Amino acid sequence: MPRLSSLAFATALALAAVPLAAQAQAAGKVKVGFMLPYTGTFAALGVAIENGFRLHVEEQGGKLGGREVEFVKVDDESDPAKATDNVNKLIKRDNVDVLVGTVHSGVVMAMAKAAKDNNTLLIVPNAGAGAVTGPMCGPNIFRSSFSNWQPAYAMGEVAVKKGYKKAMTITWKYAAGDESVAGFKEAFEKGGGSVMKELNLPFPGVEFQALLTEIAAAKPDVVYTFFAGGGAVKFVKDYAAAGLNKTVPLVGAGFLTDGTLEAQGDAAQGLLTTLHYADGLNTPRDNAFRLAYAKTFKLQPDVYAVQGYDAAQMLAAGMSAVKGDTSKRDALVAAMEKARIDSPRGAFTLSKAHNPVQDIYLRKVEGKENKVAGVAAKALSDPARGCKL
Ligand code: BEZ
Repeated sequence: MPRLSSLAFATALALAAVPLAAQAQAAGKVKVGFMLPYTGTFAALGVAIENGFRLHVEEQGGKLGGREVEFVKVDDESDPAKATDNVNKLIKRDNVDVLVGTVHSGVVMAMAKAAKDNNTLLIVPNAGAGAVTGPMCGPNIFRSSFSNWQPAYAMGEVAVKKGYKKAMTITWKYAAGDESVAGFKEAFEKGGGSVMKELNLPFPGVEFQALLTEIAAAKPDVVYTFFAGGGAVKFVKDYAAAGLNKTVPLVGAGFLTDGTLEAQGDAAQGLLTTLHYADGLNTPRDNAFRLAYAKTFKLQPDVYAVQGYDAAQMLAAGMSAVKGDTSKRDALVAAMEKARIDSPRGAFTLSKAHNPVQDIYLRKVEGKENKVAGVAAKALSDPARGCKL
């Protein structure tokens, strides 16, 4: 019978003490499933999120918690009707360890439900749907971005301070648009303003003309808007082409001008928006991130790239704590919950509902930048209405 050396014997004993599943997991790659839009009005947002996530993983030598990372991806097309099938491809066909997605608030609802039903870890790198960190919150659901309420509420306060009394709002008719308008209205009306009329069009429509004519006729003091991606480019250009940029100030959640300025050009100059990221923060952390991102992707980063990068940072915090053993879910989640994320936007922690508690910047478009003009709301936490964690 072959004899074991004492070292080999000790190693065999140690391995026997580790459950088999944990050994297999620790040895293999950790599978991350991106469910993001790669086509349609939010395509650029999906790409920036993936880039940001991959950049952080590369900075860790391609590993999280000591395990190499394998990526699989699905284009969700920002289509809620396809969302359940798409997320099930990642959970059931690809057996991902972690879901990362998505951009669109309607699509993320199906992701959160599937993540809950299958107890899959989900990190939301954009979609601001209040329900995700509200009634649908759960130990396995995290967000690295914002709630739709956060930038909107901050802009409502800014509009009050500017002395505006009568506002109109215009957005796409879906969860993100509705919640963004509600957040603005909550702060604006609390401060004594009133919203005269809420204008909508279906997502992802860009037929703005009739609505712009209505704004011109009503002459509010200010217009608040939520648009993003390709739709935001068209809206800002149409607003200026109608001459409204000379008569009725336009303000918005910062998605209106983030990642879009190259295409919006002169039409965007001077616009004020609120968001949890800005150009010109000029901190060592942000400067290093921007340089690394620009070198790697030959592109300037935007808020979506930051959110992807921070989703990876959040996962890295959990994975390091369990040395890559994702079967230790409670310990992994506990480490993510208490992590202080050293984000390019400024360090943040997570609320009880797993949403960033963060500064919301006031930004002004100057040239091709959303220049930071101050902090509109300090350490703003989403109210997490309906979350029972
Ligand atoms: C959303 O649907 O939640 C969303 C989409 C684009 C930018 C911001 C929010």
